[in-house]
Amino acid sequence: MKKLIIINGPNLNLLGKRETNIYGNLTFNEFFETILKKYPNVELEHFQSNIEGELIDKIQEVGFSYDGVILNAAAYTHTSVGIGDAVKAIKTPVVEVHISNTFAREEFRHQSYISPNARGVILGFGLQSYELAIQSFI
Ligand code: DQA
Repeated sequence: MKKLIIINGPNLNLLGKRETNIYGNLTFNEFFETILKKYPNVELEHFQSNIEGELIDKIQEVGFSYDGVILNAAAYTHTSVGIGDAVKAIKTPVVEVHISNTFAREEFRHQSYISPNARGVILGFGLQSYELAIQSFI
């Protein structure tokens, strides 16, 4: 059984409430429940933090034993050398995910410190981006 983790960064705990025109009306937990049912043969975990260091700690913790990390570092994608270095440091492959098409948005969202060391990048498909990332690992 593949062991995967979805790691979500800052403000993604507000999904369903936050800028619903961009991020949709579902909470992450509602979405995650449906995914757990749909992929019973995947051992799937979820971790969210608004704190950069906690995201780095989690990436290090899982990064030598899990089969895959699905990472939406949210705003830290565009700013965090530390998270980029953590992705580079670990052995577990990372798929970078974004709900929105960051390239269709402000210029500062076009930069990613994750992408150079990610196995792949999936963005712009709403919450389905996470599901496509799961499928890439199975
Ligand atoms: C996001 C895009 C980021 O630019 C933004 O800061 C987020 C969410 C996305 O999933 O579309 O918080 O990562």
